[in-house]
Amino acid sequence: MQVFSFVNQKGGCGKTTAAVNLAGALAARGSRVLLVDLDPQGHATMGLGCDPGEDPTSLEVLAGTCDIQSVITPGPGGIDLIPADLRLAEFEERAEHTLRPEQALSFALRGLSERYDFVLLDCPPRADGVLTINALRASDTAILVVETGAFALQGAVKALSIFEEIRARDDSRFEMRVLATLFDRRTRFARDLLFALHSRFGPVLFESVIRTSVRLREAAACGVPVQVLDKRSRATGDFDALATECLMEPADPSELTQSVPTPLPGD
Ligand SMILES: Nc1ncnc2c1ncn2[C@@H]1O[C@H](COP(=O)(O)OP(=O)(O)O)[C@@H](O)[C@H]1O
Ligand SMILES: [Mg+2]
Repeated sequence: MQVFSFVNQKGGCGKTTAAVNLAGALAARGSRVLLVDLDPQGHATMGLGCDPGEDPTSLEVLAGTCDIQSVITPGPGGIDLIPADLRLAEFEERAEHTLRPEQALSFALRGLSERYDFVLLDCPPRADGVLTINALRASDTAILVVETGAFALQGAVKALSIFEEIRARDDSRFEMRVLATLFDRRTRFARDLLFALHSRFGPVLFESVIRTSVRLREAAACGVPVQVLDKRSRATGDFDALATECLMEPADPSELTQSVPTPLPGD
């Protein structure tokens, strides 16, 4: 079982879209996939057409009041889901009265190692809240999702260093990778930026890039991963390429642990 978290302290950069549709792509390849919604906004839950109502959610998993197996619900496209809603925000308060609150998810996931090939964790737009720290503690790989817009390079360098500090502070073992999203190849600016991300991050950057696609918004609105909405769309192709990379073992894992020290102009 491999655990991936989707992180960035910013909102709106494509974390949830990446988590939902990579889950869909891996499931379409026959992998057993669990998506855990760790954002009280519940966008991944809604993006899979789920409304937990009164049912238990990731809050109960983290608080240890429900067995994780009983909170899993089947979603579209062969993805299993642990949903979230606004009640998850309570965990921040409850955490003060819980023993080792930041390790709750990592403990709970241990019981699932035989059941899934991939567990994907969709994080809130924070680096250091108890929900993101839970995700990082449980992760083999933390994927920094970077929107290829203005200041993306500077933003990615800063964000990566924040997560690397957390890793060192908590003595965690996750590797960092960078995923470029919302890429518009028609603009020269975006192409130059992608080149700059490549030279800066080298093998830490996924080769696959997620292009801007209206299909991704439509799929979220329909409550399905894009593979279910349109098998032949370019977004389906982009996430399939990303799934291929995730299914490959890195040639030399040590190459992936640190970002590449290319100096930034003005560093
Ligand atoms: N590659 C993409 N192409 C088009 N729209 C996208 C793409 N990625 C994300 N979006 C849209 O951008 C908005 C923010 O994306 P989301 O994945 O929710 O970001 P985050 O989880 O980082 O807050 C959503 O409306 C989503 O549908
Ligand atoms: Mg989100």
